[in-house]
Amino acid sequence: DWSMANFIEIEIAKIREQVGDKQVLCALSGGVDSSVVAVLIHKAIGDQLTCMFVDHNLNRKGEVEQVMKTFTEDFDMKLIKIDARERFMNKLAGVSDPEQKRKIIGNEFIYVFDEESSKLKDMDFLAQGTLYTDIIESGTATAQTIKSHHNVGGLPEDMKFKLIEPLNTLFKDEVRALGLELGLPEEVVWRQPFPGPGLGIRVLGEVTEEKLEIVREADYILREEIKNAGLERDIWQYFAVLPDIRSVGVMGDGRTYDYAIGIRGVTSIDGMTSDWARIPYDVLEKISVRIVNEVKHVNRVLYDITSKPPATIEWE
Ligand code: XMP
Repeated sequence: DWSMANFIEIEIAKIREQVGDKQVLCALSGGVDSSVVAVLIHKAIGDQLTCMFVDHNLNRKGEVEQVMKTFTEDFDMKLIKIDARERFMNKLAGVSDPEQKRKIIGNEFIYVFDEESSKLKDMDFLAQGTLYTDIIESGTATAQTIKSHHNVGGLPEDMKFKLIEPLNTLFKDEVRALGLELGLPEEVVWRQPFPGPGLGIRVLGEVTEEKLEIVREADYILREEIKNAGLERDIWQYFAVLPDIRSVGVMGDGRTYDYAIGIRGVTSIDGMTSDWARIPYDVLEKISVRIVNEVKHVNRVLYDITSKPPATIEWE
């Protein structure tokens, strides 16, 4: 569309002027905002942009691979993947309080990013996917503080970089339109909201490798079946959670004592309030049958039928 094409032309000129012959660093999370910012800046300055993706082991199934493919193969961008899986798992060991987990994940992200970015020489600018709404909701300084505590991707203010934030006049729907215009795939542009702490807050209580594996597989099945049913755009957010309970079941001639998986699907406008999604029974049945058949150590599936308030969208 003409106005978006126009916006892109103007922004590219601005970015080129601001950056000159200097280098820009961008932390990719796989989310819409950081993806759009990275592709826009790449279009302006090409290989003067370096992207960094921190693998914290808390992503959904297939996500790390998808990010690597989209940006290195489809867009031919410089992207460094940092394998920080062990680091995050070590830090999370033995921790079960939700806020404590958030803090650990947020802080660890900053340490890793700081360490790894200081290995790169001559980086002058840091690109961030700050939207207009991020600024008006909390005021610039506060937004930074809130993010560094709660979001993976929130970075400390005292970093040596100059900030570059080309999306800071846009709303979310405009960012999606921009992403499509720049050629980003629909899965990226229409990705459902995913919390910064990732699966770390969808394994309730202590996060272990085994539990992450269970919730990751169950979540993947849920996403596949929602996609098969053509419901992706009707449901604001849908995901699996692993509560820290086990119950008795029966399999063949034997008794099982295994985990229950919780399914959450909500409709919402902005995440502030939500209703539980009326996913058709036959779709729920497919999801349930597949999860207990295909995911080891799960013998029961629960569907969350609470609105927000009083419940929150996430379980932690
Ligand atoms: P709740 O659970 O508070 O979630 O109803 C509202 C929206 O925010 C997301 N969420 C988070 N996003 N860091 C984030 O970046 C977090 O710690 C976090 N906790 C919840 C949640 O997925 C929903 O979209």
